[in-house]
Amino acid sequence: MLVLGIETSCDESGVALYHTGRGLLAHALHSQVAMHAEYGGVVPELASRDHIRRVLPLTRKVLAEAGCQISDIDAIAYTQGPGLAGALLVGASIAAALGFALNVPTLGVHHLEGHLLAPLLEANPPEFPFVALLVSGGHSQLMRVSGIGAYETLGETLDDAAGEAFDKTAKLLGLGYPGGPALSKLAETGQPGRFKLPRPMLHSGDLNFSFSGLKTAVLTLVNNQPSDPQTIADIARAFQDAIVEVLAAKAVAALAATRMTRLVVAGGVGANRQLREGLSARAAKRGFRVYYPKLEFCTDNGAMIAFAGAMRLQHGAGERGGAFTVTPRWPLEQIAPML
Ligand code: KG4
Ligand code: ZN
Repeated sequence: MLVLGIETSCDESGVALYHTGRGLLAHALHSQVAMHAEYGGVVPELASRDHIRRVLPLTRKVLAEAGCQISDIDAIAYTQGPGLAGALLVGASIAAALGFALNVPTLGVHHLEGHLLAPLLEANPPEFPFVALLVSGGHSQLMRVSGIGAYETLGETLDDAAGEAFDKTAKLLGLGYPGGPALSKLAETGQPGRFKLPRPMLHSGDLNFSFSGLKTAVLTLVNNQPSDPQTIADIARAFQDAIVEVLAAKAVAALAATRMTRLVVAGGVGANRQLREGLSARAAKRGFRVYYPKLEFCTDNGAMIAFAGAMRLQHGAGERGGAFTVTPRWPLEQIAPML
């Protein structure tokens, strides 16, 4: 079964072709970062309009790369939510129109299910069950994943998501948008230990997070320190040390609480090198294994949507006839179990 996947939930148009027998055949991405940069954040209306321009050319590109014809497509998966309503509507309506024209089923996919399952695209995928640390721009959660569609939240952020904390802190440090990768790069040149920031909820005894106080602590530092480049880098380092320690410690606690030995890290913050190193060091010491998607599949992409959709479509999910739905707010636990 050849599945076309379309991701348009935020500021990246991602398209991919996944074959249930042959694996991922092709994927392509257009990032809108340059377009939104001058506004300091994502402008939803501009995002929607840009998705309209990108999805069909990206679809042609993946078909050509995979050596497939449009008529070879057996089903289409699109991101149904969560995300920006207008942006989601673009992917959903293009999927529905193509599905109607080709007379193939279409299926709305949960964006976070896509992120959670992205490590299964790799050569040595984790077996179920596993604990997933899902850390993106909009979400920070620890999940128990017992199988496809069987997700239980073990803990989550009470305020900002980890990626959001990176982005907001980066803005405070004058690093522009999107700040996460820039802050992370700068932190690598920072001196560890010059500043010490709090580790929010490290000893809370549960698996929840809270990151908004960290941003305020950074603001206080910024206001009370000189603004030379080394100081800014040292503050970035202090921020990254704090957030990585909390994420890694809570992930380890989730493994202990569930008596599991496999940890999957998904979402944009999973691209963070220091987080990866921190988790690898703990894994070596405590005997668990960490699985990551490829860097390009940590952040938003079409491959994870094609894959998550394919897992369900091959079991009969999906509808023909051009109907579509978007669900801008959609808790992961409310998605349908596997048929
Ligand atoms: O998963 P994603 O692409 O989009 C959402 O679904 O939110 O995650 C984007 C988030 C942004 O907040 C971005 O700043 C953050 O992931 N991010 C990083 C890194 N790369 C992306 N944060 C820290 N370090 C990175 N290397
Ligand atoms: Zn995402």
